[in-house]
Amino acid sequence: MSHVPVLLEEVIQALQPQDGEAYVDGTFGGGGYALRVLEAADCHLYGIDRDFDAISRANELAEHQPRLTPLLGRFGDMDALLLNIGVNEVQGVMLDIGVSSFQIDEGERGFSFMRDGPLDMRMGQAGPSAKDVVNLMSAADLTSIIRQLGEERQAKRIAAFIVERRKTETFETTLDLAQCIEDAVGGRRGKKTHPATLTFQAIRMYVNDELGELARGLAAAERMLTPGGRLVVVTFHSLEDRLVKQFMRERAGATAGGSRYMPEVKKGPAPSFDLSRRKAIEPGPQETATNPRARSARLRVVERTDAPAWQTPVETGKALPPLKALEAAL
Ligand SMILES: C[S@@+](CC[C@H](N)C(=O)[O-])C[C@H]1O[C@@H](n2cnc3c(N)ncnc32)[C@H](O)[C@@H]1O
Repeated sequence: MSHVPVLLEEVIQALQPQDGEAYVDGTFGGGGYALRVLEAADCHLYGIDRDFDAISRANELAEHQPRLTPLLGRFGDMDALLLNIGVNEVQGVMLDIGVSSFQIDEGERGFSFMRDGPLDMRMGQAGPSAKDVVNLMSAADLTSIIRQLGEERQAKRIAAFIVERRKTETFETTLDLAQCIEDAVGGRRGKKTHPATLTFQAIRMYVNDELGELARGLAAAERMLTPGGRLVVVTFHSLEDRLVKQFMRERAGATAGGSRYMPEVKKGPAPSFDLSRRKAIEPGPQETATNPRARSARLRVVERTDAPAWQTPVETGKALPPLKALEAAL
């Protein structure tokens, strides 16, 4: 069981680690990116992960690598986590959004519709779980989550099936939910992907507030980076890539409407980032052939200017039922 890092060489090239500098890996996972950064330069790396298991692995590595400091927490709080240990600026931030193979492969974590396990899906092992979402939320809220975060066309029907099924028996396991979704959409009907793929993705993103975290993480990185520092983000999903792209273009003062040669300049605060490349970097055919998980990966990179961080909050563009309401119901 391991995690094969995606776009690893491209991430290192984008980050350009230098001796004596400090970097944040906001998604430590299996430490693939982190270890390569520490190899590439005599620098310090702060490895954040909200998953206790990932931080246990980081702690083991840190016993032999004094240039690594593991931090348990969310990257959306990276400035608070760093300020707490006396670090008030860094020269680079990496984010590799999503779940790790460790999390998917461990049936007990409840992320996968292919492995039986308790319906959990929490990366941070705290707060409402997938089980709470499917057993407690209204059909309208479930539809909204599955439609917005899964872009699942049959969201309403799936939500109705979930609500009907739980009247007789509450959902306990991943395969239990996967089967109910399969029943709702009428089986696999020759499709390559499992009918539960989009619904599982939506519930996982909701339980972990993944878009909210991404928005807060981008803004926190903007506050922590020194001028010339780099923000490198790898996403696996169009909803996340869109958020990253919009953030980078907005903060660079270039709206989507401009041409490649002459970006439209919007009136607003001075650009806090320099958009060195407008296009995302994608994995080559060799990487996608050996690592199918890489297929949807997109890397985007920007360089911090010396302008102050913007006060404007980063919007996710989604109006989801508040997770706090579910928390209160528990
Ligand atoms: C795709 S993996 C990262 C893999 C890593 N780049 C490597 O090379 O091994 C994503 C990791 O980010 C963590 N994660 C996801 N969202 C997070 C958040 N908001 N704050 C902190 N960690 C997060 C997950 O727990 C998971 O371990």
